[in-house]
Amino acid sequence: MYYSSLSILGILIPLLAAVGQANVEKTIFLAPPAATVPSDEPDLDDLGLERLSPHNTVVRTRLNASFPTTEAPDGTDSWFFLENLRPGQRYEVRVCWLATQPTDFTLTTYPLTNTIEDPALLSSLSVFSTARLASLDSRLQANAIPRRASTHDAGKTLDPAPTTDSVLFLRVRAAADYFSADDALMREVPPVAVDLILDPFLLNVFPRSLVPTAGWMIVVAVVALVLARWIVGELGRVVEDAKRNHVVQASKKGK
Ligand SMILES: *[C@@H]1O[C@H](CO)[C@@H](O)[C@H](O)[C@H]1NC(C)=O
Repeated sequence: MYYSSLSILGILIPLLAAVGQANVEKTIFLAPPAATVPSDEPDLDDLGLERLSPHNTVVRTRLNASFPTTEAPDGTDSWFFLENLRPGQRYEVRVCWLATQPTDFTLTTYPLTNTIEDPALLSSLSVFSTARLASLDSRLQANAIPRRASTHDAGKTLDPAPTTDSVLFLRVRAAADYFSADDALMREVPPVAVDLILDPFLLNVFPRSLVPTAGWMIVVAVVALVLARWIVGELGRVVEDAKRNHVVQASKKGK
């Protein structure tokens, strides 16, 4: 009886886990120690990057993607800025996208100085920044309004501008992963609609936003266990009844 309940759980839990992981890619990192944001560098706000912080944990946006090439095997780069992190705290950044846009994502975080000193990273960052600043698409710009300009925007909570702060750059590479009979789709990859989510770990062990999910999984597991025990019990009773009837009939026949 106990075994059958357990085996139901054994089927249920991987199933739930598999459903939960569909179309999510992530990177897990420790926030670096607070560093002085170099003031001689071009103002970080002027890069026009969308920002994620503990006050602003979700960014909904569209990322350019491309088919992998030998020069860019992981597709097209997009850059984000992670700020106001708590030094030493474990975080994850997830990217979630629709199954209807098959894409391979690669997420990497870089400390400020590494990015500025590495020519390849800096060149990728400035290409992205230039393209972003040039595109006046208001949907893309929504999260990148410079802090100074948005002081009159009373409805929004503003992040304090980082001067000494735990900050990271996040690079998201998007490579298209489909084959289509549609020539246009094969020539030009449409931008991918994504949610980027910054999630601190509880006690540096468990992603905070998954706590409700875990709660539900436990509820489902307990209900499944109770139900399974009840079903097995009922079946047992039916079998017992059938046996007893059989015995009664057999003894009647015997007379
Ligand atoms: C995304 O792709 C479009 C079309 O190729 C281009 O105009 C735009 O500048 C790109 N955006 C970024 C941020 O690279």
